[in-house]
Amino acid sequence: MHVAHLRLRDFRNYARLDADFASGFHVLLGGNAQGKTNILEAIYLMATLRSFRGAGSASMVRHGQPAYGVGSTVVGQGEHDIRMYWSVRQRKLSLDGQPVRRLTDYLGVLRTVVFCTEDLQLVKGTGRSRRRFLDLLLTQTRPSYLPVLQRYTQALRSRNALLKQRTADQGALDSFSAELVRWGEEITRRRRELTPRLSVLARLAYRRISNDAEQLRLEYQPGILSSFAVDLAQSAPRERAMRSTLVGPHRDDVRLELDGRPAAQFGSEGQKRTLAIALKMAQAEYLTGLHGTAPVLLIDDVMGELDLRRRSGFLPVLDGARQSRGQVFMTCTEENWPRELGADLHRWRVTAGTLARAGE
Ligand SMILES: Nc1ncnc2c1ncn2[C@@H]1O[C@H](COP(=O)(O)OP(=O)(O)O)[C@@H](O)[C@H]1O
Ligand SMILES: [Mg+2]
Repeated sequence: MHVAHLRLRDFRNYARLDADFASGFHVLLGGNAQGKTNILEAIYLMATLRSFRGAGSASMVRHGQPAYGVGSTVVGQGEHDIRMYWSVRQRKLSLDGQPVRRLTDYLGVLRTVVFCTEDLQLVKGTGRSRRRFLDLLLTQTRPSYLPVLQRYTQALRSRNALLKQRTADQGALDSFSAELVRWGEEITRRRRELTPRLSVLARLAYRRISNDAEQLRLEYQPGILSSFAVDLAQSAPRERAMRSTLVGPHRDDVRLELDGRPAAQFGSEGQKRTLAIALKMAQAEYLTGLHGTAPVLLIDDVMGELDLRRRSGFLPVLDGARQSRGQVFMTCTEENWPRELGADLHRWRVTAGTLARAGE
């Protein structure tokens, strides 16, 4: 799958951009604050409808302008045209000229995996970042996961609000519990199915990047022990004391170990970085295996953080993505651009919100 055309209108520091991209490897070169990451952000935005920087829509509108537009031609199984428009008053999303009515019809037209410095939170951060990682991948795997997740979150929110009241209506509580169990078990089932597969791929990726240094172990730690309904019933007294739902997939985590020890506590900085990249690589390979086409890889400033040994482990992995007729976008500054990448790539120069080809 590849982004054949990118169109930006008043997006971040781009007033107007139209660029054609072949499949393969693209390097975006430029100094700091020129707009390299903004390009990756726009592509990711079309794939997931959110910013990987966690930015709100208003902050992506070019300063002083009322709206942004982002569009793309995506070549995958067939060719598709994506258009997004956002202003305070109006949001539009269209696919092949038709307004998108259900997100499940849209998600999957463009699949991306982003590698950025914030990925370190997958290793160092709370369980929330790892749950989000699983959820994004499951959404990319099957769009029908998204409504399940939304219904669960909604039921959880209502149930917690009810528990906060001094005298919770038992009938209402029971009906939210039933909702919670219904969607929660579905979430647990899908996460439980995914993690062993991810584990195999992440372990391999880690091994390749680190040149066999340590053994990675990835294990699902469900927030449900036996059955959700039973767990919920058992936690009822504690729940009333704490006034919130204490068991369920919103308490899930993924345990990450290197040579048998928790990576967050005992890993070195370099090991944690490698592990974060391995998780993203696993995501990309899982999607490739499932859909038969590689997702578009967006790699932001990651190279500069790897030592020479790990860098030389990572590059062949990327090269694999390129060879399977996929597409890779990688941002670099002049200082950390990996010259060992070889000749077979497209170089672009990013300067103050403009993009120009820079000799192949
Ligand atoms: N909403 C916006 N409107 C105009 N410029 C913006 C907006 N948001 C960010 N910028 C500008 O974009 C630049 C940063 O772009 P970015 O892609 O993060 O840079 P880099 O090339 O370092 O990756 C900065 O100059 C910043 O001022
Ligand atoms: Mg940047």
